[in-house]
Amino acid sequence: MRPNGSDSSILIVDDEEPLRRLLARLLERHGYTYGLAGDAQEARNQMKDHEYAVVMTDMNMPGDSGLDLIMELKTDYPNAATMMVTGMDDPSLANAALEIGAYGYIIKPFEANEILINVANALRRRTLELENRSHRSRLEQMVRDRTSELWNSVAQLEQIQKELRASQEETIQRLSIAAEFRDDETARHIQRMSHYCGTITKAMQESADRVDTMRVASQMHDVGKIGIPDSILRKPGALTRDERAVMQRHADIGHRILGGSKSELLLVASSIALTHHEKFDGTGYPRGLKRDEIALEGRVAAIADVFDALTSNRVYKRAVPLGAALEIMREGRAKHFDPELLDLFLGSIDEIVTLKADFADG
Ligand SMILES: [Fe+2]
Ligand SMILES: [Fe+2]
Repeated sequence: MRPNGSDSSILIVDDEEPLRRLLARLLERHGYTYGLAGDAQEARNQMKDHEYAVVMTDMNMPGDSGLDLIMELKTDYPNAATMMVTGMDDPSLANAALEIGAYGYIIKPFEANEILINVANALRRRTLELENRSHRSRLEQMVRDRTSELWNSVAQLEQIQKELRASQEETIQRLSIAAEFRDDETARHIQRMSHYCGTITKAMQESADRVDTMRVASQMHDVGKIGIPDSILRKPGALTRDERAVMQRHADIGHRILGGSKSELLLVASSIALTHHEKFDGTGYPRGLKRDEIALEGRVAAIADVFDALTSNRVYKRAVPLGAALEIMREGRAKHFDPELLDLFLGSIDEIVTLKADFADG
């Protein structure tokens, strides 16, 4: 029942001076320091000047009651343990006091030992609660620190990924435009065609990542035109059979340029380059593949590429009006185009038309 170090000062609040003195002497004899207050207001003043570990208060005093004081201290001084020392032997009052956070309830007249045991208990319980509280706040702080560290790393990682993706995409755009430069197709064709690919992929209920991959990868569909001589690529009139055969090599060339990479994006791009001129019924090039022998991404790209070719002006031809273009697309159902993908494309025609307007040739 010895006090715990220096942090065991006790405030005695009682309107009866003799009782205050009695308690003070008792506590002092057992090594405690103390302060005295004759009512709740004095107790408040004392609490401002001095840190008390325990406040033992009478119930009935002039001014605010002991219960009021305990309630107030609980909020303003949560580290102080409070006890009630009262002449009122009333279980409901005792209950109320304990309920609002008092650590003990002693009925007058009391035995000296009762006071000492209660004070020692209150101090012990207070120490445990303080430890508990600081442990908890240390833990909370730790969790906050770790969480914010984690969020920072995630944000950093996302930023790096975004930058990487952006630089990758820019490289791809520049490369694709370089290839198209030699042709009468424009940068706008690449943009429109690749967005259409994204729209169809979205309609296939694919993930946002896959949609993005398709949008970026399809930009490289004609990259192989880099390997086609100008005399054929830029020939104003119709191509001879041999010339057409050379021209058709752009699919294989693109496939070789983009292939063999570890990057998923380039692999998809390589597959699109190879298969975007294949037709569902097997009459396309370069391999004459049929149905699902043609990579899914190539079947998507074929729809997007042909639709944009139909609905854009080229040096040698005018754009076909939308209605007529859709008619031609429908005629290609299960011949040129995968019927299911064509249906998804036609089902997304509103979005396609919006994209067409957004990326119209300047
Ligand atoms: Fe092509
Ligand atoms: Fe194209």
